[in-house]
Amino acid sequence: MDSILVTGNGPLNGQIPIAGAKNACLTLMPATLLSEEPLTLTNAPRLSDIKTMTALLQSLGAEVSSLQDGQVIAMSSHDLTSQTADYEIVRKMRASNLVLGPLLARFGEAVVSLPGGCAIGARPMDLHVDGLEALGAEIELKDGYLHAKAPGGLKGAVHEMRFASVGATENIVMAATLAKGTTVLMNAAREPEIVDLVECLRKMGAQISGEGTSTIEIQGVDRLHGATHQVVTDRIELGTYMLAPAICGGEVELLGGRMSLVESFAAKLDAAGVSVTETENGLKVARKNGRVTSVDVVTEPFPGFPTDLQAQMMALMCTAEGTAVLEERIFENRFMHAPELVRMGANIEVHGGTATVTGVERLKGAPVMATDLRASVSLILAGLAAEGETTVSRVYHLDRGYEHVVRKLEGVGAKIERIKGQ
Ligand code: UD1
Repeated sequence: MDSILVTGNGPLNGQIPIAGAKNACLTLMPATLLSEEPLTLTNAPRLSDIKTMTALLQSLGAEVSSLQDGQVIAMSSHDLTSQTADYEIVRKMRASNLVLGPLLARFGEAVVSLPGGCAIGARPMDLHVDGLEALGAEIELKDGYLHAKAPGGLKGAVHEMRFASVGATENIVMAATLAKGTTVLMNAAREPEIVDLVECLRKMGAQISGEGTSTIEIQGVDRLHGATHQVVTDRIELGTYMLAPAICGGEVELLGGRMSLVESFAAKLDAAGVSVTETENGLKVARKNGRVTSVDVVTEPFPGFPTDLQAQMMALMCTAEGTAVLEERIFENRFMHAPELVRMGANIEVHGGTATVTGVERLKGAPVMATDLRASVSLILAGLAAEGETTVSRVYHLDRGYEHVVRKLEGVGAKIERIKGQ
């Protein structure tokens, strides 16, 4: 298995291009199942999660081609042959569950394995099931698979979610586009990836309003048609690389970045002594003075501080002046990076969903292990600022969500290389 070798070597300067959003692409791809006509995505990120979704859609009979070095994904679900999402694919990636709503809406039937993905908590699917049942689906759990049926078709309904789940919102919105009548989804998630999905669905002929607010209204239509859509910028990749100059010093411009995608995160960086300014081409990030100061963080659904940036923020707090309290409210068990950071000399105490980080002057390089996608990149960030060499193993997690990480960081002066495993 490959590993990443990072050597801490001072300030970073230059530009990093930000890719299209993994999480948006993973919900836009299953939207192809809603229509017989082709759906084409541009600005797609080159990631192993995208390959997993490609394999899943192909296993259902969809045609999926990767063009222009993977940045364009051309899909057609004209002739689907299966409505079953198999465990062997779904276990690799939780987002596979996003085929459930579209398959059910188009065929009145879907069989989807309960998901796997990053080991960051229980991650059930009750909110997806409740929402689809509100639209008239009958769903049973048998042998680890959700068997969903809507023999007479889905019907619009008013439904309030108990929690603003991103995936459940996406599944319910996609299903409701082809339901009979109007669906009002309350306490919907407001993430930019949902806004992006709705913009694409609208190009396909769906009638939807309210995306980006907590109430989304969907007027069902008989059929959706083809479209071409550009995937929104990846705000998590953006936030991750914003932390590189915050941790190492220097000044880095994130090309394609927009403040509206990272408002709450940028506010925390500002409070820690890191300036974020909008430029013509993106966002520019630099420390205001010397060492950053500790800031407390609570993860929340958008527009709050994203859980997907918590691990990376912890890496910054490891060398900040003072003590920071990081509270994880979205996922239980999302501090697996903490013991690895401690191996590098960090001072972190974890109690339940709260981590208390007291900054040290400098971290020290060490062999560490990536435990999930965002944890893996937090260890790379920590390694960039540490004294000596850090080897991050199990980098297959990283390949799920960060394209060309070595090239992008090398481009701003980092000493980083990928070591091929046996
Ligand atoms: C999406 C993102 C993931 C991000 C997360 C929260 C994708 C592909 N992934 O994941 O990167 O970390 O949003 O911003 O877009 N829950 C339930 N029942 C359900 C569904 C969820 O209890 O039916 C719980 C989960 O266990 C978790 C919380 O709700 O504790 C948030 O999950 P959710 O918003 O659904 O995240 P995902 O869509 O899986």
